[in-house]
Amino acid sequence: MSIIRPRLAEPVTKVNTENSWSFDNLTQKDTNYLTHCYHRYPAKFIPQLARRLILENSLDGDIICDPFYGSGSTILESILQNRIALGTDINPVAHMITMAKTTPLDPSKVSKTKLFLHSQLKNLPAKSEYDIPKELSKWFDQETYDVLNHLLLQIKLIKPRKLQLFFLCAFSHILKTSSYWNNGSVKPHKDKTKFLNRVNDPITRYFNQLKKMEIRNEQLINTLSPKILNNLDYYRRVYVGDLQDLPKDEECSLIVTSPPYVISYEYRDIHSLSLSFLQDFFKDIPSKQNFIGSSHRKTDDNNLYSYTGGMIADSLHDHSKALSKTVYSYFIDMQNFFHKSYDLLKTNGKMAVVIGNTALRGVDISNTQVFDEILATVGFTEHKIIKRKIPFKCLPTTRDPKTGRFVSSDTNHNKSYSHEYIMIYSKN
Ligand SMILES: C[S@@+](CC[C@H](N)C(=O)[O-])C[C@H]1O[C@@H](n2cnc3c(N)ncnc32)[C@H](O)[C@@H]1O
Repeated sequence: MSIIRPRLAEPVTKVNTENSWSFDNLTQKDTNYLTHCYHRYPAKFIPQLARRLILENSLDGDIICDPFYGSGSTILESILQNRIALGTDINPVAHMITMAKTTPLDPSKVSKTKLFLHSQLKNLPAKSEYDIPKELSKWFDQETYDVLNHLLLQIKLIKPRKLQLFFLCAFSHILKTSSYWNNGSVKPHKDKTKFLNRVNDPITRYFNQLKKMEIRNEQLINTLSPKILNNLDYYRRVYVGDLQDLPKDEECSLIVTSPPYVISYEYRDIHSLSLSFLQDFFKDIPSKQNFIGSSHRKTDDNNLYSYTGGMIADSLHDHSKALSKTVYSYFIDMQNFFHKSYDLLKTNGKMAVVIGNTALRGVDISNTQVFDEILATVGFTEHKIIKRKIPFKCLPTTRDPKTGRFVSSDTNHNKSYSHEYIMIYSKN
């Protein structure tokens, strides 16, 4: 590992908390407004935060980019504010959700298709026709799998594709709650007791979700401006793939994003049910190594433009060589992301990165400090750093390293986050 030491920045953590950015007053219903309720997603933005960043830092018609769009919070908020939304995500499930959330549909077609599905589901085959694929057998019993598979076969018949996406999105949304996946866990952890005292009824769950989405679809039609409704493909440019594949010729005014954390979520695992069930709908299924922040990722060694980043990797080396390598790789990935962002932005364009600090094996992972050092070397100028309290209800609490279950104790071992930072930098 070779480390260059361009500068030692002032600790970013010295900044004071700005209460107005905590959005403490918002309920879960508020943050799931409009089509933001279509699908759950880990580390999802509060849409009001993305909206405020967009309104304060860009103008009508500007290009807003999110290179890690996830469930598409920034993408939806951008088109709602008459901006052009550009983005990529390596996860095809993220692409499906984002497309569904930002595609207004003719309500009568949605309603007709729902009736079609309803009628088809009356004729469930009496005997199981398909064996559960190995990767799903841990999560579903044969009976539940048969019901879900039959539903999916009917969804496959829906045309056109944009209408089908709406029904697929609802299907993907109910998979976890219809399986033995422990609802409170972000790791693939089985809860054998989940359906001991209640019936697992995926079809009712599915149609309840559709009912909610139908209302939100109509609200979306009434909220989007006619300009966007008539030119959706021009205003919404979302890709599935690595952020480095984003088109070079776009001149962005603003980047609003929350990158993955290092070994916080294994996105490939979290979405494994949807990725397995819906694999026929996706062109490529990424491997764990494709996901930035994954412990399976090996990024080519390179010069890291951060003294603090090098120190963190060195401290972790004493605990685990593999962990040190993973964290170093993550910082290199972030460095590559900042280079790419610099190229994407036009002069005077800004980038807002939402990130927090954490700890692994008792070593502080000061992401903000590392990012600040890299950003300066890449050529960015600090515009504003906002410290925000993460409202308690959204707080990702500490996780048991073995089970992935949330636990209440907050040790210095794998710390939970009580604050995060919005790092706004500009390209001069
Ligand atoms: C913190 S989440 C973003 C959540 C998003 N802000 C939202 O509101 O839903 C980070 C995202 O980065 C994506 N990601 C990980 N590695 C990537 C890569 N190499 N290229 C593009 N996206 C990647 C993950 O799939 C995940 O959706």
